[in-house]
Amino acid sequence: VGHVRGAGVPARHLEPLPDEPCHEWVTIVRLLRAGIGTGMLHGLIGKRGTGKTRAAVAVVRQACLEAVRDGEGSVRPALYRKTMDLFLDVRGTFKSEAKTEREVLESYILPPLLVLDEVQERGGSEFEDRMLNYVIDRRYDLRRDTLLISNLTKGEFAANVGSSIVSRLTECGTVFEFDFPSFRTPTKGTA
Ligand SMILES: Nc1ncnc2c1ncn2[C@@H]1O[C@H](COP(=O)(O)OP(=O)(O)OP(=O)(O)O)[C@@H](O)[C@H]1O
Ligand SMILES: [Mg+2]
Repeated sequence: VGHVRGAGVPARHLEPLPDEPCHEWVTIVRLLRAGIGTGMLHGLIGKRGTGKTRAAVAVVRQACLEAVRDGEGSVRPALYRKTMDLFLDVRGTFKSEAKTEREVLESYILPPLLVLDEVQERGGSEFEDRMLNYVIDRRYDLRRDTLLISNLTKGEFAANVGSSIVSRLTECGTVFEFDFPSFRTPTKGTA
């Protein structure tokens, strides 16, 4: 799986799917994979358990495979992070000398593909909004691929990420709505 271990994806989502993936989900994954390297900026929204994280991990895997195929061994092809990690990482620099704020932010700007999961999980502070806008704006300038995941509705998502990101997303992508039933069922994995 090449670089995928370095991409920070949750191990759970590297395990094979228990069932046949549903058609609508596969269609979205196919579209997302086709956009790798185009500077895409998409939102992935929908209720809990509809496979949004799993879909993003499928795109990360593809990006890693393509990087190996193309011999791009030096840069990390993709990075998966919870949005909270961005703020925790930055806040971590306040107490430690190990890394500067800029170095932390650059680590989110550098990867050709970035997935920020649970985008709605922010403190609502202006500082956090500014950091998120900065990372997305820099990635937009560099035409790097970004996926933002949230369990909000379309309207809530737009309000949550704000006008700067919505404007760039309108130009470079779309909001994919995962509007099928949750894949999380009580019996899953216990058969
Ligand atoms: N296409 C699929 N077919 C079958 N099972 C799936 C599919 N996608 C995801 N799953 C499984 O469903 C569960 C939920 O998936 P996932 O965590 O990706 O959902 P999510 O949309 O990110 O949910 P949340 O909004 O709560 O983070 C996981 O156990 C996952 O393995
Ligand atoms: Mg998820």
